[in-house]
Amino acid sequence: MAEKNELTRYFFDNPGRLINKWRHYFDIYDRHLAPFRRRPVTVLEIGIYHGGSLQMWKKYFGKRVSLVGVDIDERSTRLAESQVKVVVGDQSDRPFLQRLAADYGPFDVVIDDGGHSMDQQITSFEELWPHVRNGGIYLVEDLHTSYWKEYGGEYLGSNTFIEYAKRLIDQQHAWHAPDSSALKVDDMTKSIRGMHVYDSIIVFDKADVTKPYSEMTGTPEFPLSDER
Ligand SMILES: C[S@@+](CC[C@H](N)C(=O)[O-])C[C@H]1O[C@@H](n2cnc3c(N)ncnc32)[C@H](O)[C@@H]1O
Repeated sequence: MAEKNELTRYFFDNPGRLINKWRHYFDIYDRHLAPFRRRPVTVLEIGIYHGGSLQMWKKYFGKRVSLVGVDIDERSTRLAESQVKVVVGDQSDRPFLQRLAADYGPFDVVIDDGGHSMDQQITSFEELWPHVRNGGIYLVEDLHTSYWKEYGGEYLGSNTFIEYAKRLIDQQHAWHAPDSSALKVDDMTKSIRGMHVYDSIIVFDKADVTKPYSEMTGTPEFPLSDER
């Protein structure tokens, strides 16, 4: 097995509050979050639970991070501490998310570890993605709920986050669709630089994306076989 990264070590030696994570998430986190460490970034985590992951993020990102935690459970306000603000609200409530973004955005990193139902994940992404900084990321986790009935999931069900993400792949490629196509360039096309799909996690990279083009470089002569 690969060497444990710092987050994994923190998790297993957890000196603080409860953290609830799938084991394979730590490598994914470290791969995508490491560039933000020790920088003055704003990180939003939806889903606080006992506050253990907020403590972990504070340690991981360092002294210059500002963390914002959101939870529907009012008791979570007790978990605010230095560098950590706690906001109570429902991640499927659009006006709440708009106020959240106005008060605390823009965000460098958003981690959705909230209620994991389809409506919650999609609404949060739609409202908060415009408030992610260029160069930032939006990470949605526990996407296996797209296959779990109790969360509104269903294989190929049109309302799941996984199916929504598949449509975003089309949207990302809208530059290449013919004019006659229903697929048109939109804000998603112009802002999703990459989508990294893992088991149960998708990480979206944000950037100003312009129409892709190809170029050719090198010498024009075809390498002839008798030149060998
Ligand atoms: C999986 S736990 C979060 C775990 C935490 N991030 C950790 O790693 O330890 C999910 C949390 O989402 C919160 N939650 C559920 N529905 C929500 C909603 N609609 N809006 C905001 N938070 C919600 C729950 O109260 C719970 O604390």
